[in-house]
Amino acid sequence: MTQTDRTIEALFEENRTFPPPADFARRAIVSSPEIYAEAEADFEGFWARQAENLVWRRRWDQVLDWSGAPFAKWFVGGRLNVTESCLDRHLGEHPGRVAYYWEGEPGDARTITYAELHAEVCRLANALALLGVEKGDRVAIYMGMVPELPVALLACARLGAPHSVVFGGFSADALADRINDAQAKVLITCDGSWRAGQVVPLKDMADDALERTPSISSVVVVQRTNNAVSMQEGRDVWYHDVVPEQEPSRPATECDSEDLLYLLYTSGTTARPKGIVHTCGGYLVGATTTTKMVFDLHEEEDVYWCTADIGWVTGHSYIVYGPLSVGATSVIYEGAPAYPDKDRLWDVVEKYKVSILYTAPTSIRTFMKWGDEYPGRHDLSSLRLLGTVGEPINPEAWMWYRDIIGAGRTPVVDTWWQTETGMQMISPLPGLTTTKPGSATHPLPGISADIVDDEGNSVPLGGGGYLVLTRPWPAMLRGIYGDPNRFVETYWRRFSRPEEDKWVYFAGDGAKRDLDGDYWLLGRVDDVMNVSGHRISTLEVESALVDHPAVAEAAVIGRADPTTGQAIAAFVTLRGTAEGDEALIQELREHVAVKIGKIARPASIVFTDELPKTRSGKIMRRLLRDISEERHLGDVTTLANAAVVEEIAARARLARGNAGGGAQKS
Ligand code: WTA
Repeated sequence: MTQTDRTIEALFEENRTFPPPADFARRAIVSSPEIYAEAEADFEGFWARQAENLVWRRRWDQVLDWSGAPFAKWFVGGRLNVTESCLDRHLGEHPGRVAYYWEGEPGDARTITYAELHAEVCRLANALALLGVEKGDRVAIYMGMVPELPVALLACARLGAPHSVVFGGFSADALADRINDAQAKVLITCDGSWRAGQVVPLKDMADDALERTPSISSVVVVQRTNNAVSMQEGRDVWYHDVVPEQEPSRPATECDSEDLLYLLYTSGTTARPKGIVHTCGGYLVGATTTTKMVFDLHEEEDVYWCTADIGWVTGHSYIVYGPLSVGATSVIYEGAPAYPDKDRLWDVVEKYKVSILYTAPTSIRTFMKWGDEYPGRHDLSSLRLLGTVGEPINPEAWMWYRDIIGAGRTPVVDTWWQTETGMQMISPLPGLTTTKPGSATHPLPGISADIVDDEGNSVPLGGGGYLVLTRPWPAMLRGIYGDPNRFVETYWRRFSRPEEDKWVYFAGDGAKRDLDGDYWLLGRVDDVMNVSGHRISTLEVESALVDHPAVAEAAVIGRADPTTGQAIAAFVTLRGTAEGDEALIQELREHVAVKIGKIARPASIVFTDELPKTRSGKIMRRLLRDISEERHLGDVTTLANAAVVEEIAARARLARGNAGGGAQKS
């Protein structure tokens, strides 16, 4: 038993809780518990007060219009451009404050002040305007974590052109699908990106996608890795050829509160990803308020680091929009956490004296596995607050994070939210909330959640069920791009009662509540897997597998994995004479990487003559999960083909043995 294990045991026995440390609470931005009651008494008034912290060209006439529920409108009639809150307003008071400390993977670094960021955003906005980008046009972004990435998001926002960022780890196919769904006009990409010392050839993959994306008329390419790329005359331009010569100023395009700010695609329960729609006013109110409150961000002193990729919503809200709006100084790190050695993160924390660190449980578990010696090499005493997001955090990892990284003094905020919510929803406020390892505690001020049973009835404290949100919030998704019906069906149909005008948002997560009313998230209850904090749909992986000529049928499930949260386990039947050997396993994993991206590669693939099915022909995914997690299988006699189960179980045991630690976040 390790030291940390003993701590956990003691913790359970004592039912240990962690009140905010007195010195932290004394200086905290939110230190009065009345904030909850005030927000509860008048949530629209609460959000209106938060909205006062932004720069508006025209004040709103109405805080919330919910008459078209579940389609919300916030800050109705308000006019703004989000970049005036994120950039322009800081120029008067502190133009020289650092917006980003950027650390390249090879060891190069750049420091970018608010004045410099503003100028560069304007230059790129001017260049994009010359390429024909107008208000409302969609711009696709497919880049590594270089400083030009936040610049690209903000340049689009400056023009009122919605961006659609596609994570740089996605494949050409995934990029093409997203570009086509959004009908994007321009693509901004890089020659390549650095990952663990290797070049990820982004432009090559983009070229592959561009063969199928007729809506794209121009491509702007940032040079980062200097790998050879082909540039198509008349379509492709280098960033360094067109941007530096532009004027470093540009008036911001005035937008309505409800104009599109961005689309971000996320996996759902079908094979087709959904374009989640976020708009300007409410989104920025939500991102700004939570950045300030949840991270207790003192913008004049703190150095804040969110380790997510900007390709995910965490990066949108908590690297770009929230931190810039509050005027924070952030760190951006380009590459892999184990490059050149497993202490790179701690090296960065020490170098920039990071005071607030926000990362994912999967990373924390990986650091635990690597051992205490790596953080032990560095002075981490600048840290005063730690945050986590993306998946349930197990108490062991929570305690390790607090004890080893936070030296036992830092509060830990476990923040539950989603691409769809746009902002953190269930989380401690670090100066107020007594935390418990493994619990995201309770909804933030103004947010209303519940846990319901199958019939939609609230489950009493102590019980578990489905997590729902029972009141609109400013950063909520406004829809699924181009598919209003799917929006209603996916999130609202199940528990709402439109005839009573009762609208209930179904998050897709299971949760329980303890007797104090604290929430404990239990993971997805739908066919969405959470692998290293990445949402991947079982159906998306299944359809990538059956796309391979050797595959007849595939079933995919997420099985519990000690490091990645879930690992992708695939069960495959083959066509005709195809031979299920190790070579084919590798080929199929590669095929999924090409169709979706490396993050979706199955950790294990089991070949079987048949998949377990009910008599009506439905694949029994739950049974495959039980097999994969070595649970007792119980009665399988309702299956059409019960005999196949034992055989699959034996093969799955073998495959697990071969797969090692499962898919790593790449
Ligand atoms: C999961 C990431 C437990 C959850 C911001 C949710 C969490 C999905 C937590 C959204 C947490 C996120 N505890 N589970 N603190 N945070 N999740 O859209 O299943 O990439 O539905 O947004 O991640 O993932 P997404």
